[in-house]
Amino acid sequence: MSGRILVTARSFRKTEGPHKQILRDAGYELVECPNEQPLPAAELAEWIADVDGAILGLDAVTAAVLDRANRLRVISRYGVGVDAVDVAAATRRGVVVTITPGANSVAVAELALALLLALARSIPYHDRGARQGRWTRVQGMELYGATLGIVGLGRIGREVAQRAVCLGMRVLFHDPLVTGALPGLAAKPCALEELLATSDAVSLHLPLTDATRHLIDAGALGRMKPTAYLINTARGGLVDEQALYQALAQKQIAGAACDVFATEPPDASGLVALDNFIAMPHIGSATHQTTLRMGLMAAQNALAVLRGERPVGVVNPEVDRPLDTGQERCRI
Ligand code: DGY
Repeated sequence: MSGRILVTARSFRKTEGPHKQILRDAGYELVECPNEQPLPAAELAEWIADVDGAILGLDAVTAAVLDRANRLRVISRYGVGVDAVDVAAATRRGVVVTITPGANSVAVAELALALLLALARSIPYHDRGARQGRWTRVQGMELYGATLGIVGLGRIGREVAQRAVCLGMRVLFHDPLVTGALPGLAAKPCALEELLATSDAVSLHLPLTDATRHLIDAGALGRMKPTAYLINTARGGLVDEQALYQALAQKQIAGAACDVFATEPPDASGLVALDNFIAMPHIGSATHQTTLRMGLMAAQNALAVLRGERPVGVVNPEVDRPLDTGQERCRI
Protein backbone atom coordinates (compact mmCIF):
# COMPACT_ATOMS: atom_id res chain seq x y z
CA MET A 1 0.00 0.00 0.00
CA SER A 2 1.29 3.45 -0.81
CA GLY A 3 -1.28 5.34 1.22
CA ARG A 4 -4.93 6.09 1.89
CA ILE A 5 -7.41 8.23 -0.03
CA LEU A 6 -10.66 9.38 1.55
CA VAL A 7 -13.72 9.45 -0.73
CA THR A 8 -16.88 11.27 0.33
CA ALA A 9 -18.32 12.04 -3.14
CA ARG A 10 -21.39 9.79 -3.32
CA SER A 11 -21.65 8.94 -7.00
CA PHE A 12 -17.87 8.40 -7.17
CA ARG A 13 -18.21 5.87 -4.36
CA LYS A 14 -21.34 4.18 -5.61
CA THR A 15 -20.14 3.63 -9.17
CA GLU A 16 -17.47 1.08 -10.04
CA GLY A 17 -15.13 1.95 -12.88
CA PRO A 18 -11.68 3.08 -13.95
CA HIS A 19 -11.82 6.01 -11.51
CA LYS A 20 -11.54 3.62 -8.56
CA GLN A 21 -9.36 1.11 -10.35
CA ILE A 22 -6.51 3.54 -11.08
CA LEU A 23 -6.32 4.44 -7.39
CA ARG A 24 -6.23 0.79 -6.34
CA ASP A 25 -3.72 -0.06 -9.08
CA ALA A 26 -1.49 2.70 -7.73
CA GLY A 27 -1.60 0.95 -4.36
CA TYR A 28 -3.98 3.27 -2.51
CA GLU A 29 -6.56 2.09 -0.01
CA LEU A 30 -9.90 3.84 -0.64
CA VAL A 31 -11.48 5.02 2.59
CA GLU A 32 -15.14 5.30 1.56
CA CYS A 33 -17.20 7.39 3.95
CA PRO A 34 -20.87 6.22 3.88
CA ASN A 35 -22.32 9.78 3.98
CA GLU A 36 -25.52 10.55 2.07
CA GLN A 37 -25.18 14.34 2.48
CA PRO A 38 -22.05 16.52 2.44
CA LEU A 39 -20.15 16.18 5.72
CA PRO A 40 -20.17 19.04 8.22
CA ALA A 41 -16.71 20.16 9.35
CA ALA A 42 -16.70 18.24 12.65
CA GLU A 43 -17.41 14.92 10.89
CA LEU A 44 -15.02 15.52 8.04
CA ALA A 45 -12.28 16.30 10.58
CA GLU A 46 -12.62 12.76 11.96
CA TRP A 47 -12.41 11.12 8.53
CA ILE A 48 -9.59 13.22 7.12
CA ALA A 49 -7.16 12.83 10.02
CA ASP A 50 -5.12 9.98 8.60
CA VAL A 51 -5.29 10.11 4.80
CA ASP A 52 -2.88 11.28 2.09
CA GLY A 53 -5.53 12.54 -0.30
CA ALA A 54 -9.25 13.26 -0.27
CA ILE A 55 -11.76 13.10 -3.14
CA LEU A 56 -14.56 15.26 -1.84
CA GLY A 57 -18.10 16.25 -2.69
CA LEU A 58 -19.49 19.44 -1.18
CA ASP A 59 -18.15 18.77 2.33
CA ALA A 60 -17.08 21.67 4.56
CA VAL A 61 -13.28 21.90 4.41
CA THR A 62 -12.56 24.55 7.03
CA ALA A 63 -9.21 25.60 8.50
CA ALA A 64 -10.05 23.54 11.59
CA VAL A 65 -10.58 20.44 9.40
CA LEU A 66 -7.23 21.03 7.73
CA ASP A 67 -5.57 21.34 11.17
CA ARG A 68 -6.53 17.70 11.75
CA ALA A 69 -5.26 16.54 8.36
CA ASN A 70 -1.66 15.87 9.24
CA ARG A 71 -0.82 13.71 6.20
CA LEU A 72 -3.09 15.34 3.64
CA ARG A 73 -1.41 16.50 0.42
CA VAL A 74 -4.35 16.94 -1.93
CA ILE A 75 -8.01 17.85 -1.85
CA SER A 76 -9.41 16.68 -5.15
CA ARG A 77 -12.89 18.17 -5.59
CA TYR A 78 -15.26 15.96 -7.51
CA GLY A 79 -16.81 18.96 -9.28
CA VAL A 80 -15.82 22.53 -10.02
CA GLY A 81 -16.99 24.66 -7.08
CA VAL A 82 -14.57 25.38 -4.22
CA ASP A 83 -16.86 27.57 -2.12
CA ALA A 84 -16.98 24.87 0.59
CA VAL A 85 -13.16 24.70 0.74
CA ASP A 86 -11.00 27.19 2.64
CA VAL A 87 -8.48 27.36 -0.20
CA ALA A 88 -6.30 29.96 1.57
CA ALA A 89 -5.99 27.69 4.62
CA ALA A 90 -5.15 24.71 2.37
CA THR A 91 -2.49 26.77 0.59
CA ARG A 92 -0.91 27.82 3.90
CA ARG A 93 -0.70 24.16 4.89
CA GLY A 94 0.79 23.11 1.53
CA VAL A 95 -2.32 21.16 0.47
CA VAL A 96 -3.02 21.27 -3.27
CA VAL A 97 -6.69 21.84 -4.17
CA THR A 98 -7.89 20.58 -7.54
CA ILE A 99 -11.19 20.62 -9.45
CA THR A 100 -12.48 18.78 -12.53
CA PRO A 101 -12.80 21.59 -15.11
CA GLY A 102 -15.02 20.77 -18.06
CA ALA A 103 -16.02 17.34 -16.78
CA ASN A 104 -19.56 18.38 -15.87
CA SER A 105 -20.06 21.30 -18.27
CA VAL A 106 -22.34 19.48 -20.72
CA ALA A 107 -24.45 17.91 -17.97
CA VAL A 108 -24.99 21.22 -16.15
CA ALA A 109 -25.62 23.12 -19.39
CA GLU A 110 -28.19 20.56 -20.52
CA LEU A 111 -29.94 20.81 -17.15
CA ALA A 112 -30.04 24.63 -17.39
CA LEU A 113 -31.65 24.29 -20.84
CA ALA A 114 -34.09 21.68 -19.55
CA LEU A 115 -35.12 24.01 -16.74
CA LEU A 116 -35.52 26.90 -19.17
CA LEU A 117 -37.85 24.80 -21.35
CA ALA A 118 -39.71 23.55 -18.27
CA LEU A 119 -40.29 27.13 -17.09
CA ALA A 120 -41.22 28.43 -20.54
CA ARG A 121 -43.97 25.82 -20.91
CA SER A 122 -44.84 25.38 -17.20
CA ILE A 123 -44.09 21.66 -17.57
CA PRO A 124 -44.11 20.67 -13.86
CA TYR A 125 -47.29 22.71 -13.27
CA HIS A 126 -49.10 21.10 -16.20
CA ASP A 127 -47.86 17.64 -15.24
CA ARG A 128 -49.13 18.07 -11.66
CA GLY A 129 -52.48 19.33 -12.98
CA ALA A 130 -52.95 16.56 -15.55
CA ARG A 131 -52.31 13.91 -12.88
CA GLN A 132 -54.89 15.55 -10.61
CA GLY A 133 -57.53 15.89 -13.36
CA ARG A 134 -56.99 19.67 -13.70
CA TRP A 135 -57.08 20.13 -17.49
CA THR A 136 -56.15 23.84 -17.62
CA ARG A 137 -53.48 25.53 -19.70
CA VAL A 138 -50.99 28.29 -18.99
CA GLN A 139 -49.75 30.32 -21.96
CA GLY A 140 -46.08 29.60 -22.60
CA MET A 141 -43.15 31.50 -24.07
CA GLU A 142 -41.34 30.42 -27.24
CA LEU A 143 -37.59 30.38 -26.84
CA TYR A 144 -37.06 31.13 -30.53
CA GLY A 145 -36.37 34.86 -30.77
CA ALA A 146 -36.30 35.32 -26.97
CA THR A 147 -33.26 36.72 -25.15
CA LEU A 148 -31.20 34.63 -22.75
CA GLY A 149 -28.88 36.47 -20.35
CA ILE A 150 -25.99 34.35 -19.13
CA VAL A 151 -24.18 35.55 -16.01
CA GLY A 152 -20.74 33.92 -16.00
CA LEU A 153 -19.29 32.81 -19.34
CA GLY A 154 -16.90 30.11 -18.15
CA ARG A 155 -16.97 26.57 -19.48
CA ILE A 156 -20.56 25.87 -18.45
CA GLY A 157 -21.88 29.29 -19.50
CA ARG A 158 -20.38 28.79 -22.97
CA GLU A 159 -22.05 25.39 -23.37
CA VAL A 160 -25.37 26.99 -22.45
CA ALA A 161 -24.78 29.86 -24.87
CA GLN A 162 -24.05 27.53 -27.80
CA ARG A 163 -27.22 25.52 -27.16
CA ALA A 164 -29.37 28.63 -26.76
CA VAL A 165 -28.09 29.99 -30.09
CA CYS A 166 -29.09 26.68 -31.73
CA LEU A 167 -32.61 27.18 -30.37
CA GLY A 168 -32.77 30.56 -32.11
CA MET A 169 -32.29 32.62 -28.95
CA ARG A 170 -30.48 35.95 -28.78
CA VAL A 171 -27.74 35.54 -26.17
CA LEU A 172 -26.31 38.24 -23.90
CA PHE A 173 -23.65 37.59 -21.30
CA HIS A 174 -22.04 39.33 -18.38
CA ASP A 175 -18.63 38.19 -17.16
CA PRO A 176 -15.98 40.53 -15.73
CA LEU A 177 -13.28 38.10 -16.97
CA VAL A 178 -14.55 38.09 -20.58
CA THR A 179 -14.54 41.63 -21.88
CA GLY A 180 -15.31 41.16 -25.58
CA ALA A 181 -17.29 38.85 -27.84
CA LEU A 182 -15.81 35.36 -28.23
CA PRO A 183 -14.91 34.10 -31.74
CA GLY A 184 -17.47 31.64 -33.04
CA LEU A 185 -20.00 32.34 -30.29
CA ALA A 186 -22.97 34.55 -31.16
CA ALA A 187 -23.25 36.04 -27.68
CA LYS A 188 -23.03 39.74 -26.88
CA PRO A 189 -21.25 41.08 -23.77
CA CYS A 190 -23.18 43.59 -21.71
CA ALA A 191 -23.44 45.17 -18.26
CA LEU A 192 -25.29 43.17 -15.62
CA GLU A 193 -28.00 45.84 -15.24
CA GLU A 194 -28.73 45.79 -18.99
CA LEU A 195 -28.72 41.99 -19.08
CA LEU A 196 -31.21 41.80 -16.20
CA ALA A 197 -33.49 44.45 -17.72
CA THR A 198 -33.60 43.04 -21.25
CA SER A 199 -33.44 39.23 -20.88
CA ASP A 200 -36.46 36.95 -21.07
CA ALA A 201 -34.51 34.41 -19.01
CA VAL A 202 -31.39 34.80 -16.87
CA SER A 203 -29.15 31.79 -16.20
CA LEU A 204 -26.39 31.86 -13.55
CA HIS A 205 -23.04 30.17 -14.23
CA LEU A 206 -20.52 31.75 -11.90
CA PRO A 207 -18.71 30.60 -8.76
CA LEU A 208 -19.85 31.59 -5.27
CA THR A 209 -17.35 33.99 -3.69
CA ASP A 210 -17.62 36.91 -1.26
CA ALA A 211 -18.04 39.14 -4.31
CA THR A 212 -20.85 37.12 -5.90
CA ARG A 213 -22.87 36.18 -2.78
CA HIS A 214 -26.46 37.46 -3.21
CA LEU A 215 -25.59 38.93 -6.62
CA ILE A 216 -29.24 38.35 -7.39
CA ASP A 217 -30.90 40.31 -4.60
CA ALA A 218 -34.15 42.32 -4.39
CA GLY A 219 -32.60 45.10 -6.50
CA ALA A 220 -31.48 42.72 -9.25
CA LEU A 221 -34.82 40.92 -9.30
CA GLY A 222 -36.56 44.31 -9.45
CA ARG A 223 -34.69 45.07 -12.69
CA MET A 224 -35.96 41.91 -14.40
CA LYS A 225 -39.02 41.88 -16.67
CA PRO A 226 -42.28 40.65 -15.07
CA THR A 227 -42.35 37.96 -17.79
CA ALA A 228 -38.75 36.81 -17.14
CA TYR A 229 -37.42 33.57 -15.66
CA LEU A 230 -34.39 32.96 -13.42
CA ILE A 231 -32.40 29.71 -13.59
CA ASN A 232 -29.72 28.81 -11.05
CA THR A 233 -27.65 25.66 -11.56
CA ALA A 234 -24.50 27.19 -10.00
CA ARG A 235 -24.70 27.87 -6.25
CA GLY A 236 -27.62 28.73 -3.97
CA GLY A 237 -25.71 31.54 -2.27
CA LEU A 238 -25.70 33.58 -5.49
CA VAL A 239 -29.37 34.35 -4.93
CA ASP A 240 -31.02 36.05 -1.95
CA GLU A 241 -33.69 33.37 -1.51
CA GLN A 242 -35.95 35.58 0.64
CA ALA A 243 -35.94 38.22 -2.08
CA LEU A 244 -36.61 35.57 -4.74
CA TYR A 245 -39.52 34.22 -2.69
CA GLN A 246 -41.06 37.72 -2.53
CA ALA A 247 -40.46 38.33 -6.25
CA LEU A 248 -42.15 35.04 -7.20
CA ALA A 249 -45.02 35.31 -4.70
CA GLN A 250 -45.78 38.85 -5.91
CA LYS A 251 -45.36 37.82 -9.58
CA GLN A 252 -42.61 40.41 -9.95
CA ILE A 253 -40.92 37.84 -12.23
CA ALA A 254 -42.71 34.97 -13.98
CA GLY A 255 -40.83 32.00 -12.57
CA ALA A 256 -37.57 30.52 -11.35
CA ALA A 257 -35.87 27.14 -11.30
CA CYS A 258 -33.03 26.19 -8.97
CA ASP A 259 -30.89 23.07 -8.80
CA VAL A 260 -28.95 24.58 -5.90
CA PHE A 261 -29.94 26.18 -2.60
CA ALA A 262 -28.19 28.09 0.16
CA THR A 263 -29.04 25.17 2.47
CA GLU A 264 -29.60 21.76 0.89
CA PRO A 265 -32.19 20.34 1.13
CA PRO A 266 -34.15 23.61 1.28
CA ASP A 267 -36.89 24.49 3.74
CA ALA A 268 -40.19 22.95 2.55
CA SER A 269 -42.19 26.08 3.40
CA GLY A 270 -40.04 28.40 1.29
CA LEU A 271 -39.45 28.59 -2.45
CA VAL A 272 -40.37 24.95 -3.06
CA ALA A 273 -43.95 25.66 -1.96
CA LEU A 274 -44.52 28.10 -4.82
CA ASP A 275 -46.26 27.05 -8.07
CA ASN A 276 -44.04 29.24 -10.24
CA PHE A 277 -40.87 27.67 -8.85
CA ILE A 278 -39.12 24.48 -9.99
CA ALA A 279 -36.84 22.73 -7.49
CA MET A 280 -34.16 20.16 -8.28
CA PRO A 281 -32.03 18.29 -5.71
CA HIS A 282 -28.61 19.43 -7.02
CA ILE A 283 -28.52 17.03 -9.97
CA GLY A 284 -26.47 19.18 -12.37
CA SER A 285 -23.61 16.67 -12.63
CA ALA A 286 -25.73 13.56 -12.13
CA THR A 287 -25.43 11.80 -15.48
CA HIS A 288 -23.73 8.46 -16.17
CA GLN A 289 -21.22 10.08 -18.48
CA THR A 290 -20.30 12.87 -16.09
CA THR A 291 -19.95 10.51 -13.12
CA LEU A 292 -17.33 8.49 -15.00
CA ARG A 293 -15.61 11.50 -16.58
CA MET A 294 -15.53 13.55 -13.41
CA GLY A 295 -14.56 10.53 -11.32
CA LEU A 296 -11.62 9.70 -13.55
CA MET A 297 -10.41 13.30 -13.59
CA ALA A 298 -10.74 13.61 -9.79
CA ALA A 299 -8.81 10.35 -9.30
CA GLN A 300 -6.12 11.38 -11.82
CA ASN A 301 -5.78 14.78 -10.12
CA ALA A 302 -5.28 13.15 -6.70
CA LEU A 303 -2.76 10.65 -8.05
CA ALA A 304 -0.82 13.30 -9.95
CA VAL A 305 -0.37 15.43 -6.83
CA LEU A 306 0.62 12.40 -4.75
CA ARG A 307 3.23 11.56 -7.41
CA GLY A 308 4.63 15.08 -7.22
CA GLU A 309 3.13 16.15 -10.57
CA ARG A 310 0.81 19.10 -11.29
CA PRO A 311 -2.57 18.21 -12.84
CA VAL A 312 -4.64 20.65 -14.92
CA GLY A 313 -7.29 21.61 -12.40
CA VAL A 314 -5.18 23.18 -9.65
CA VAL A 315 -6.93 26.16 -8.03
CA ASN A 316 -4.04 27.13 -5.73
CA PRO A 317 -0.94 26.87 -7.96
CA GLU A 318 0.86 29.18 -5.51
CA VAL A 319 0.84 26.33 -2.98
CA ASP A 320 4.43 25.41 -3.70
CA ARG A 321 5.59 28.02 -6.18
CA PRO A 322 5.01 31.74 -6.74
CA LEU A 323 1.88 32.55 -8.76
CA ASP A 324 3.82 34.53 -11.35
CA THR A 325 5.39 31.48 -13.00
CA GLY A 326 2.82 31.50 -15.77
CA GLN A 327 0.56 28.87 -14.26
CA GLU A 328 -2.99 30.18 -14.06
CA ARG A 329 -5.69 29.58 -11.51
CA CYS A 330 -8.30 27.23 -12.95
CA ARG A 331 -11.86 28.58 -13.44
CA ILE A 332 -15.17 26.75 -13.83
C1 DGY B 1 -19.76 21.16 -8.67
O1 DGY B 1 -19.23 21.01 -9.77
O2 DGY B 1 -19.19 21.74 -7.74
C2 DGY B 1 -21.11 20.59 -8.49
O3 DGY B 1 -21.87 21.33 -7.60
C3 DGY B 1 -21.04 19.14 -8.07
O4 DGY B 1 -20.30 19.00 -6.92
